[in-house]
Amino acid sequence: MFGRRGAAEELSRPVAKPAAAAPPATPAKPAAAAAPATTASGSKGPAPSLHSTPAPMAVENRSDDYYQIKTMIFGALIDTIDLAQLAQLDVDSAREEIRDIVNEIITIKNVTMSIAEQEQLLTDICNDVLGYGPLEPLLARDDIADIMVNGANRVFIEVAGKVQLTNIRFRDNAQLMNICQRIVSQVGRRVDESSPICDARLLDGSRVNVIAPPLSLDGPTLTIRKFRKDKLKLEDLVRYGSISPEGARVLAVIGRCRCNIIVSGGTGSGKTTLLNVLTAYIDVDERVITCEDAAELQLQQPHVVRLETRPPNLEGQGQIAMRDLVRNCLRMRPERIIVGEVRGPEAFDLLQAMNTGHDGSMGTVHANSPREALSRLEALITMGGYNLPSKTIRDMIVGSVDIIIQAERLRDGSRRITNVTEVIGSEGDVIITQDLLTYQIDGEDETGRIRGKHIGTGIARPHFWDRARYFGLDRELAEALDGLQN
Ligand SMILES: Nc1ncnc2c1ncn2[C@@H]1O[C@H](COP(=O)(O)OP(=O)(O)OP(=O)(O)O)[C@@H](O)[C@H]1O
Ligand SMILES: [Mg+2]
Repeated sequence: MFGRRGAAEELSRPVAKPAAAAPPATPAKPAAAAAPATTASGSKGPAPSLHSTPAPMAVENRSDDYYQIKTMIFGALIDTIDLAQLAQLDVDSAREEIRDIVNEIITIKNVTMSIAEQEQLLTDICNDVLGYGPLEPLLARDDIADIMVNGANRVFIEVAGKVQLTNIRFRDNAQLMNICQRIVSQVGRRVDESSPICDARLLDGSRVNVIAPPLSLDGPTLTIRKFRKDKLKLEDLVRYGSISPEGARVLAVIGRCRCNIIVSGGTGSGKTTLLNVLTAYIDVDERVITCEDAAELQLQQPHVVRLETRPPNLEGQGQIAMRDLVRNCLRMRPERIIVGEVRGPEAFDLLQAMNTGHDGSMGTVHANSPREALSRLEALITMGGYNLPSKTIRDMIVGSVDIIIQAERLRDGSRRITNVTEVIGSEGDVIITQDLLTYQIDGEDETGRIRGKHIGTGIARPHFWDRARYFGLDRELAEALDGLQN
């Protein structure tokens, strides 16, 4: 029994909250981490007295009234409950404890609400104290790809490729900031005015970015790429129309015959998903090393080493950049190297790895077309300070990259593979490429969905033919390419 329950005057008296002032003792434990979150909200003005006899209040589901009532009950709860002791409990018991006290407060305050509304309120308040507050219902949904919080009052989600505004709100920016803090403290990081940018991960693996004031002007901005438990497979991409069945066959051959692949695409176009799909074709006996900023890939093979970069600490020291990881990989006897996102000088190291016997290495780049992906790689190498003539860099790209797969998020929200392109050589200064398949948009149907089809370009003998033959896949490749023409 942690609440000072019993007499109403007991409940109404502000209680000293030693736990509220303490930093989270064990950040990974949600209940313990709840302490700082409640400090800000709890300390906002005097707690409403439960003693006064309020007029009955009606609750409309998540209307302004609802939020007002919730704030009032929450304030009373925080004044009543001993957070330090609550933190000792497992989540279920803590939830029970909170329920009891909230029910009591509702009775004393004479709030009228239906059973369903009361349940809603209880769940919301438990989430506030024990979890990620208003984010909890969104985190529980598997159909959401992204959660984007722009300050306390605007929460957007992406569902089925479409971004929509939700009616989820935080009490204020302080609550939002505390939840951000709670999230990043779980991975040993901190976000505040002095270090307002932070990358982190939720316990379920979701990728999180926080940018706080003064850099973000309208309150803390939180972006979550939800972790998908059921990672998409090539069959799923076919089912969603992201690639045709014949196109998928070609991709499977490309993956199995250890082509060096660059997946290119815009933000959220499905690059990481595609990279993950392609890793399914890696042999079980290969030693694979993955390098990522926030580990998202889920390889099924037994012999995988996963590496993750590290941002600098508060003193600006200790950073391990992607480049350091990729370079270190080369001393780890890798058979394939997979770089989650190439966005710096590591481009050079990845190309070198591809060029020096680590066939089947892969990476993604942000670019809007296969051509742009090539110029981006060149630009990244140039910006990395290598004093190499452009021709040398291009020759290096030609010698390393076999295939570029372009992913795109179309305007109807669907994701498509729009090009499978081979890098086949160079003429003078120009890199020569050829498309094996492209996506042709035919128009829109009456619901606004884009209609289109993947079409082959008639190439019967791609540049990687000999490689496919070496792996005994030439026949499969010929049939798959043949299928593209039909
Ligand atoms: N072909 C697809 N069909 C439907 N949904 C997809 C498809 N590919 C990816 N998604 C979903 O889209 C979201 C974004 O995918 P992903 O993380 O692979 O994109 P990304 O290009 O790597 O994004 P970022 O640029 O932010 O790293 C995920 O939720 C993923 O499950
Ligand atoms: Mg990605």
